[in-house]
Amino acid sequence: MKFIIGNWKMYPKTLKEAKAILAAHRRSARLLKRTKVVICAPQVFVGALATGLRKTTTFALGAQDVFWEDEGARTGETSPAMLASLGLQYVIVGHSERRALGETNKEVSQKAAQAMKHKLTAVLCVGEQVRDDAGEYFGLVRSQLHASLAEIPKNASAHLMIAYEPIWAIGSKALRPAAPADLHEMTILIRRELVAHFGKTAGFRVPILYGGSVDERNAEGFLTLGEADGLLIGRVSLSPEGFGAIVRLVEQKHS
Ligand code: 13P
Repeated sequence: MKFIIGNWKMYPKTLKEAKAILAAHRRSARLLKRTKVVICAPQVFVGALATGLRKTTTFALGAQDVFWEDEGARTGETSPAMLASLGLQYVIVGHSERRALGETNKEVSQKAAQAMKHKLTAVLCVGEQVRDDAGEYFGLVRSQLHASLAEIPKNASAHLMIAYEPIWAIGSKALRPAAPADLHEMTILIRRELVAHFGKTAGFRVPILYGGSVDERNAEGFLTLGEADGLLIGRVSLSPEGFGAIVRLVEQKHS
């Protein structure tokens, strides 16, 4: 099973548009057998989008962030219990755009751990700002991941995915997407860290996704040469045509 996760970020502007895009994505996920589509919508829309959404094995709705407590005096926050009560199954934690606002590895780890207690799959993001010639980015991603896993119990890997998103490859100002080879060396590093934390069997089961300027032309390489278990897609996930094309491609070529 491959996972294609759309991160809508702070788009679109209206619930009406959000409903239309979600409906199109649902339609294109209807006949899937080997691919799971997850759409992570803005927090303010997830309640309305979740209403009446029938659960299927190939399509799910998720959120883009979550707090690390189930309730409390936390103005503006959304709790894992609240997301779970809507029937949501996925939540992104530690996206680089949230880390850029000051989120720490410890907070990311607490968020993931608490979400996982509610059987929400935490899509935990890591990635370096830049690639330096001396290869310091390896150590950086390793320690970022190590610290982001710290609060997650060693026997609780079932509801976890890691998304490798190099910041230099994300968004409309990206220099370029990462190359599959850039990803491959990182999947090895991430896998090692997962095995160190969860042990061999469980560590190998955690899916590793790639995110950063994925489109219809480059998606295939990340899954084959890059050995990713799925993709985390920003801009293109707002386009039913572009996203649908990636989903179809992945479904045809991968089991
Ligand atoms: P883009 O696909 O727009 O580069 O965004 C990647 C991302 O940040 C997904 O979480």
